[in-house]
Amino acid sequence: MTENTYNPGKGEGSPVGVAILGLGTVGAQVLRLLQERAEDFERRVGGPIEVRGVAVSDKSKPRPGVDPELLTDDAFTLIERDDVDIVVEVIGGIDYPRRVVLEALHAGKSVVTANKALVAAHGAELSDAADATGADLFFEAAVAAAIPVVGPLRRSLAGDQVNKVVGIVNGTTNFILDAMDSTGADYDEMLAEATRLGYAEADPTADVEGHDAASKAAILSSLAFHTRVTSDDVHCEGISSITAEDIAAANAADCTIKLLATCERVIQEDGSEGISTSVYPAFIPRRHPLATVRESFNAVFVEADAAGRLMFYGNGAGGNPTASAVLGDLVAAGRNKVFGGRAPGDSTYADLPILPFGEVETRFHIDLEVDDRIGVLADISRRLADNGISLRTVRQEGGTRAHEGSAARLVIITHSAKEEQLQSCVEMLASLDSVVKVNSVIRIEGMDV
Ligand code: HSE
Repeated sequence: MTENTYNPGKGEGSPVGVAILGLGTVGAQVLRLLQERAEDFERRVGGPIEVRGVAVSDKSKPRPGVDPELLTDDAFTLIERDDVDIVVEVIGGIDYPRRVVLEALHAGKSVVTANKALVAAHGAELSDAADATGADLFFEAAVAAAIPVVGPLRRSLAGDQVNKVVGIVNGTTNFILDAMDSTGADYDEMLAEATRLGYAEADPTADVEGHDAASKAAILSSLAFHTRVTSDDVHCEGISSITAEDIAAANAADCTIKLLATCERVIQEDGSEGISTSVYPAFIPRRHPLATVRESFNAVFVEADAAGRLMFYGNGAGGNPTASAVLGDLVAAGRNKVFGGRAPGDSTYADLPILPFGEVETRFHIDLEVDDRIGVLADISRRLADNGISLRTVRQEGGTRAHEGSAARLVIITHSAKEEQLQSCVEMLASLDSVVKVNSVIRIEGMDV
């Protein structure tokens, strides 16, 4: 921030003008709570919060309880008004909100957004625009809605070194996996149930293929490691290939399966540091705190040098929980408008290298159908050892999944090894005559906790 962008504040008691962009599930709750708790907001901010307008795409749609005078379909004109100090963006999507938010920041308006896809894809551009005018840019609601995690990483843990963040940051997939775990049902059945109950969208792709979690992982990684990470830097796999048999295999290993967003500081062989950010379904031991996160709840588990292990847990989606995070940011932005100063901005000074996913170490649970004859287990173990993969446990079962003839099931849990090494070993195993079928290969997380 340069000297001429210093914000001295409007002075105690001054009104703070707010433009709300979007009046969907979240925007409607933000507006309602602002109106219902106006007096509290005034006390907390130091001046009254006054909503100048609400930008919507369709003004003619009935909106009970909303003053029609507030509605406009021209967001650009609304945010440019002199009496608008803060813009709340709860539209969703990327291109249109990006243009509006940039315009607001260029005009020196502070921005509060719940838009994870926007922040994950264009965080650098937004942050530069905020720095240029000394505006605040807040996005607590972009990651796990009501759960305070952006603020703790940005402020509370700013004096510590964060080494790892592992989160369940998508409620839809957690609901589906939890329901599969507790009922034994298959993926399609539980996706249908999630849709019926309103957890899954009509097009659930962004959730079930991990894209929603990947945006959140990029934001968490950027904050944790003081390094710019975008959604393109995140290795992403979804849950649509998880089967009831995978869940049963997890249970047999005293684990459950969760879609995990993992952000990790990695010490490389030459001693230098890099980071890795990924989203994939993984086995997690039942004793791990993340294994206890049921239904559509979210949680973020943080490991830091001095703080040790922390877990943040709660509602990661929905109108009211998201509005809670938006309004917390709005109070902070409002106070800065009234009393002056600025919240901590982006910190990307560390600029750590983003490692290729193949370089990252993981453990695998490998479930194979093999010929049931003498020497097969020894042969597979030797081949893995020759490729530098050490085995943690091997379990052989009579051919419960066997095709005709004599086949057995081999369940291997490896020690950690580089992803690329493990992947090439799995390919090698699949090519062996003695391996009838690779039933599944799923990573394991959280064995050390
Ligand atoms: N669709 C997301 C979820 C919420 O299921 O958690 C918004 O990011």
